[in-house]
Amino acid sequence: MSSLIKLENVTKVYQLGENDYTALKGVDFQLNRGEMTAIVGVSGSGKSTLMNIIGFLDRCTSGKYFFANQDVSSLQEHELASIRNSKIGFVFQSFFLLQRSSALQNVMLPLFYRGTPRNEAKDKAMHVLEKVGVAHLAAHKPNQLSGGQQQRVAIARALVGDPEIILADEPTGALDTQTGDEVMELFLNLNSNESRTIVIITHDKEISCRCRRIVTIKDGKIME
Ligand SMILES: Nc1ncnc2c1ncn2[C@@H]1O[C@H](COP(=O)(O)OP(=O)(O)OP(=O)(O)O)[C@@H](O)[C@H]1O
Ligand SMILES: [Mg+2]
Repeated sequence: MSSLIKLENVTKVYQLGENDYTALKGVDFQLNRGEMTAIVGVSGSGKSTLMNIIGFLDRCTSGKYFFANQDVSSLQEHELASIRNSKIGFVFQSFFLLQRSSALQNVMLPLFYRGTPRNEAKDKAMHVLEKVGVAHLAAHKPNQLSGGQQQRVAIARALVGDPEIILADEPTGALDTQTGDEVMELFLNLNSNESRTIVIITHDKEISCRCRRIVTIKDGKIME
């Protein structure tokens, strides 16, 4: 399997007024294409900080980051944004769907930013909505959908641009156990049927133990 993500001795220091807070203390982490990985750890251990760095939402303070064997540690902001938009799909606990837009429009949005022609974007969005089982709800607004359905739409939005990796931060955190299990089943299918590379951050042991690889982060360090 080929290497997709490689972090070497990565630190993250947050500036808090006069004080610094070191949220990541020298993280070494490697991820291959096609892997399904859970990142677990107690609240405040640095999971989201790590995910934000992997997903180019934030920068590390020191250390090296290789994405698809390219050293991205010193790229400029617009170069990082370009990789983020084309290679990373995000899923969050609270879905982050646009409330005034339909499910279909929400899923089309990332393609709109890439300049994909409207008809092509619509076809692609319908295709991924179908894949995650909510094509029949394409015209619904988020407030007309259940939590599980909204998360499926959010997963479709993450998938529509055919990303290299899907990063999901507590994707089942706002869902009841059964709905969470169904969403987890969807991630597992995307990994086994399409070899999607997926990272799931979770507090939930039932969720993490279904992933092939579990990485534990404790106090800003990876224990594995
Ligand atoms: N923007 C920020 N400024 C200052 N400190 C921050 C910032 N973001 C996170 N931290 C601190 O860094 C540490 C790690 O935070 P992080 O959000 O990565 O934890 P987490 O493992 O995702 O926790 P949770 O399970 O509660 O989501 C925490 O102590 C947090 O208070
Ligand atoms: Mg977090």
